[in-house]
Amino acid sequence: MGLPHWSSKEAEVIELHINGVRHRVVGEPNRSLLSVLREDLDLTGTKYGCGEGQCGACTALVEGRAVRSCITPVHLVAGRPITTIEGLAQGGRLHPLQEAFLEVSALQCGYCTPGMIMSGLALLTANPDPSEAEIRRFMNGNICRCGTYGRIVHAIQRAAQKMRKEGRR
Ligand code: FES
Ligand code: FES
Repeated sequence: MGLPHWSSKEAEVIELHINGVRHRVVGEPNRSLLSVLREDLDLTGTKYGCGEGQCGACTALVEGRAVRSCITPVHLVAGRPITTIEGLAQGGRLHPLQEAFLEVSALQCGYCTPGMIMSGLALLTANPDPSEAEIRRFMNGNICRCGTYGRIVHAIQRAAQKMRKEGRR
């Protein structure tokens, strides 16, 4: 008989603050944030791509900064504010980045899109008026297999403009 993934001896209760909601999860503290989001909390908007920190599909924000959730042990983010794609729309309105991605069709299959939007948000939080070169540099670790990079840059520029106009970050 094989060993279980974690024994009850190793299990810990971990409190997570995700999109303004507190969750208590029980499990092995070195599990990835991505597996806890998807498997325990049913927050499946954050995608599994490479599982090795190389593609950006799993990007979430911790204290406003982009992290690769597939390689982030969940215990490291306990008690810190986490934002996932599910937390962006407010009051029935999509976030300006989500609107802009739709408006300029910055997606084809859409698999990379949540990660692209979360990285875009981290960028615009730190730099509300990035140049095209700054966008390309910042988004460099996010891979789109459909090759929609040009439209993704355009969407981020458009969202940045909207957000400045609305005075939001
Ligand atoms: S799935 Fe995390 S970076 Fe690829
Ligand atoms: S839209 Fe298909 S991977 Fe980016």
